[in-house]
Amino acid sequence: MHSARRLRNALRMALCDVLMLLLLAGCAAKGNTASPETTPGKEAASAAEPTQAEEPSSPEEPAQTDPQAGGAHILVACFSATGHTAPIAEYAAELLGADLYEIVAAEPYTEANLAYYTGGRCDQEQDDPDVRPAISGAVGNMDQYDVVLIGHPIWHGQAPRIISTFLESYDFSGKTLTTFCTSASSPLGFSAANLHGLVSEDVTWLESRRFPIGASREEVAGWLAEIGLTGSERLEEAGMQMRINDVPVAVQWEDNESVAALMELAQEAPLTIHMSMYGGFEQVGPIGTPLPRSDMQTTTEAGDIVLYSGNQIVVFYGSNSWAYTRLGHITDKTADELAEILGNGNVTVTISIK
Ligand SMILES: Cc1cc2nc3c(=O)[nH]c(=O)nc-3n(C[C@H](O)[C@H](O)[C@H](O)COP(=O)(O)O)c2cc1C
Repeated sequence: MHSARRLRNALRMALCDVLMLLLLAGCAAKGNTASPETTPGKEAASAAEPTQAEEPSSPEEPAQTDPQAGGAHILVACFSATGHTAPIAEYAAELLGADLYEIVAAEPYTEANLAYYTGGRCDQEQDDPDVRPAISGAVGNMDQYDVVLIGHPIWHGQAPRIISTFLESYDFSGKTLTTFCTSASSPLGFSAANLHGLVSEDVTWLESRRFPIGASREEVAGWLAEIGLTGSERLEEAGMQMRINDVPVAVQWEDNESVAALMELAQEAPLTIHMSMYGGFEQVGPIGTPLPRSDMQTTTEAGDIVLYSGNQIVVFYGSNSWAYTRLGHITDKTADELAEILGNGNVTVTISIK
């Protein structure tokens, strides 16, 4: 992430460079670094300094993550033109044990560009929803991430168009996404909903959050807990627990009427579902009662929990394409761990309310 070019700069820049290196060392200690095809140059520009594209550094080995969300590989990507959103990204990456990636414009935004309501570059870009400013470099290993958080400032009530570029640069199918932003005063408004509209329907979108400039680590931690990415706070709040052969698993439950009905059922009495292996990729078993269903053609992945045929639960350790209603996703097991647990004979799943 460090720029050799900066270090070669004239003596008058040396002090700035040392400070920048210290800052980046701090960031690296907080969050892992995404393995990019080309890594952007710096984590955050100072408020007075526009973001500059930097020389790419050498690709690194994919960082090992140990997120509290458990097993899921998480990326925090952030575009921060004047440095206010970058600390939120760093807090989130640290709290999640996630990789951190800075979205850098191929053509850096200058101070003049950023001066809004001047008819300048940013104003023009925000006026045209079809503009897609180019990004310098790319995340080279997006496939390995299950969850991606994207940070950005609010520009004219919306995310900068470069976030649209980012969202359209990758296939996020089957992943969990959310966004966070900072603004001077504007609320989230329709900014997140508009971004959500750019990704495929099978993306799980967690509730986005607008933070004030200077938001604390605790505020970020509170949001991550609310959307279920840290610990089991949300599960405990929701109160629904799942066990496979008596071993608890962390589940990110969907917010839909099928899950609500499942909770009601589990409230009456713990559900015990005797499952059988099927097709070399799933365990399936009867609930005993039909649940409301909103089946959609779905390509599942390991950890997905779906409602099949309105009255059976399927837990995947592989993939299948069929019309299902999504119920949730196991977040604390890798695909290999799930294959081990679910691929070696029939299991019993219990769903209960704490
Ligand atoms: C081009 C431009 C447009 C902006 N539009 C808004 C706006 O509509 N509402 C608002 O509250 N702040 C607006 N701001 C302020 C930024 O949202 C705010 O300073 C943000 O924290 C910057 O984040 P960053 O430093 O990570 O880039 C705008 C800033 C710029 C540069």
